[in-house]
Amino acid sequence: MIRKRLINIISVALFVISIAGYLIWQNNAIQLSYFNYADSALPEPFHGFKVVQVSDLHNKDFGHQLINKVTDERPDIIVVTGDVIDRNRTDVPTAIKAMEKMVEIAPVYFVSGNHEVTSGEFEVLQSEMAKIGVVDLDNSHENLEINGSEIGLIGMEDPLLLLYDDIERVGSSERLLQSNIEKLVEESGADFTLLLSHRAELMEIYSETSVNMVLTGHAHGGQIRIPFVNGVYAPSQGFLPEYTSGLYQKNSTTMIVSRGLGNSIFPLRINNRPELVILTLEANQ
Ligand SMILES: [Fe+2]
Repeated sequence: MIRKRLINIISVALFVISIAGYLIWQNNAIQLSYFNYADSALPEPFHGFKVVQVSDLHNKDFGHQLINKVTDERPDIIVVTGDVIDRNRTDVPTAIKAMEKMVEIAPVYFVSGNHEVTSGEFEVLQSEMAKIGVVDLDNSHENLEINGSEIGLIGMEDPLLLLYDDIERVGSSERLLQSNIEKLVEESGADFTLLLSHRAELMEIYSETSVNMVLTGHAHGGQIRIPFVNGVYAPSQGFLPEYTSGLYQKNSTTMIVSRGLGNSIFPLRINNRPELVILTLEANQ
């Protein structure tokens, strides 16, 4: 009887330990997701150009793990697609500590997410990012050049930053976002444009523009991923969200959604490890 009880206790303990171990691994072991994207509009000198996307860090401190993984990829650029801080536990120094190491690896480009905008510390973050050399691409662009050929890197600010007067003038926030993107594409003048934007749910808008590729996040992979169902819940998309992870294509625009690295209010990821997206561009000749 005592022996049976002891076996039961040990079995329950082992079960609890394995569940805890699984959850720790699921929430802390970064997974690398590789994408190759070929486009005839990409200039030949950019063939093999490598972009590492860091999204939705939410103030999580991965220590050496994150930096080592990014370093190992030897990226040409690093792009940070919003929510580097979390509005519920805003910690600018932790975010800056990670970014400081990133800028030593490659040029870093940043666009805002909803958490920056509502944190109350967005200006502090912007100023600290500028000091360490992170390029703020909110509503602006920068052309990258190799051997005389250029591609346009375009950044969309989080829609929460849109001004009411501008929305009224154009008619809707969707139309304003679309016209902002098109304006930046025009200013860039490049044949190939890569858009950085926090919001995955705006695929319809991106696909109405002439951008070739968009890197987004915000959906956290749907937080809990169920095989054949995919993500369970994503902010701004609700239950059974459409855009949570991987590649999506509409019209002449392709979007990659990063599952991101950190968590916000809901503290757990299940079947949804923190993710770094590694995108390699290919000139499709
Ligand atoms: Fe977000």
